[in-house]
Amino acid sequence: MTQPEHQRLLIIDFGSQVTQLIARRLRELNVLSEILPFNKVTDETLREMAPQAVILSGGPASVTEAGSPRAPQTLFDMGIPVLGICYGQQTMMEQLGGKVESGHHREFGRAYVEPAEGHRKEGIFSGLFDGGREEVWMSHGDRVTRLAPGFTVIGTSPNAPYAIVGDAERQFYAVQFHPEVHHTPNGKRLLENFVRLAGFTGDWTMGAYREEAIRKIREQVGDEKVICGLSGGVDSSVAAVLIHEAIGDQLTCVFVDHGLLRKGEAEEVVAMFRDTYNIPLIHADESDLFLGALEGVSDPEVKRKTIGRLFIDVFQKHANDVGGAKFLAQGTLYPDVIESVSFSGGPSVTIKSHHNVGGLPEKMGLKLVEPLRELFKDEVRALGRELGLPEKFIGRHPFPGPGLAIRCPGEITREKLAILREADAVYIDQIRKHGLYDEIWQAFVAILPVRTVGVMGDGRTYDYACALRAVTSVDGMTADYYPFSHAFLGETATRIINEVRGINRVTYDITSKPPGTIEWE
Ligand code: XMP
Repeated sequence: MTQPEHQRLLIIDFGSQVTQLIARRLRELNVLSEILPFNKVTDETLREMAPQAVILSGGPASVTEAGSPRAPQTLFDMGIPVLGICYGQQTMMEQLGGKVESGHHREFGRAYVEPAEGHRKEGIFSGLFDGGREEVWMSHGDRVTRLAPGFTVIGTSPNAPYAIVGDAERQFYAVQFHPEVHHTPNGKRLLENFVRLAGFTGDWTMGAYREEAIRKIREQVGDEKVICGLSGGVDSSVAAVLIHEAIGDQLTCVFVDHGLLRKGEAEEVVAMFRDTYNIPLIHADESDLFLGALEGVSDPEVKRKTIGRLFIDVFQKHANDVGGAKFLAQGTLYPDVIESVSFSGGPSVTIKSHHNVGGLPEKMGLKLVEPLRELFKDEVRALGRELGLPEKFIGRHPFPGPGLAIRCPGEITREKLAILREADAVYIDQIRKHGLYDEIWQAFVAILPVRTVGVMGDGRTYDYACALRAVTSVDGMTADYYPFSHAFLGETATRIINEVRGINRVTYDITSKPPGTIEWE
């Protein structure tokens, strides 16, 4: 459980897809929150945890169904502020003597809420409704049809007469829409008003998160050994530095070099971890093994599966050398956790077999340490800064586990990889020189499995074509191509063709995601 010296808010989770976003908004407001599933919240937990306020999340159930989840009734007698969201609103109304009906009230998507007659722009409304109405995102099948005693309507929308309700005396508030999602542009303001009304001063920072994470790691690991697969990416690096701070030399990192890294990458990672941080590091140069197994393979899924399988074997081999490790550390982020649960509850379609060290824990009997599980990418970067990782490292574009293999459509050869590495380095150098690196989510070169004819000087060339890719994105789930100027593209193409032997044609990929993916395979 969390340290008592910070003010704490409890989020009771009724299973909404976006519950973590509530925690994320609260972190942005420097409020420490803890999410507990509804079935884990007993009277005793409430007493022990002594939250300063509670938020009831949305969820897929209907309060009109027998056996649907409820908040502990004692919650409403604790004298603390409560905010119910969507399902949270409905169960709150139901438990406090109101009425909820199902059917005929389905509402998904954008709606506009207006303040009810006589409500001033203060308290929960502070800073809201400046434009008269607020855009909100609704997603519900049931709705409240009678308020619980003590509540009044404070905001309405055409389809949700009880869009915002409240009992200012008890500081109970409830909203039909989701203030935590981006589609409710001023939702964060509403949450902020709630936490200020509840007396939170905003005492929870990334520094506090770091301390808390360190404490939890120590508690989980005790004096056992931990191994961590380093990819050179931001996530595993931040996880490793954080864990090292917690348990020192009980941590050993294994960096598997599959021969599919970018120019200078292996050297950089080894230098940083071994020399700067003094973290025990096994640098496993296994490029012959990987490239040998990939010879003649051109099917993208076979490539991914081959790399994934070998990675596990190699990791296991080196991890055994560490001797007696009981834990495996991973830089799993929150979006990885949500992505792995299909929205419909059924098996989702495999677009690509993502590569990580999944499968290892069961095989090796290891337990997982995942200190970044609750964080989003930008928060991991903030934590990395807090830990003092160099800015250049923190701001790095994501790099996929299978590495250059999936930027080399068709058969992979050492020759093509060498050309690709050089072209990629020139491209990234161009982007940095033009000050564009941080505006772009990810940029890379893909070497194409075609050779084309060109003319250089007075001679004929017959070399590879390559494609430049650069996208903007928030989370990698959707993406837009980056609108480089023609001047930039022209200059970059010239540099690549002049400086990289083996490429005589450069194209720019202007596909968004969807329908494309960010990587080429
Ligand atoms: P796609 O190509 O699926 O990529 O649009 C979305 C983001 O994920 C990265 N990516 C991977 N990362 N293992 C990883 O660790 C993988 O197998 C993998 N495949 C894609 C990709 O670079 C982009 O940031």
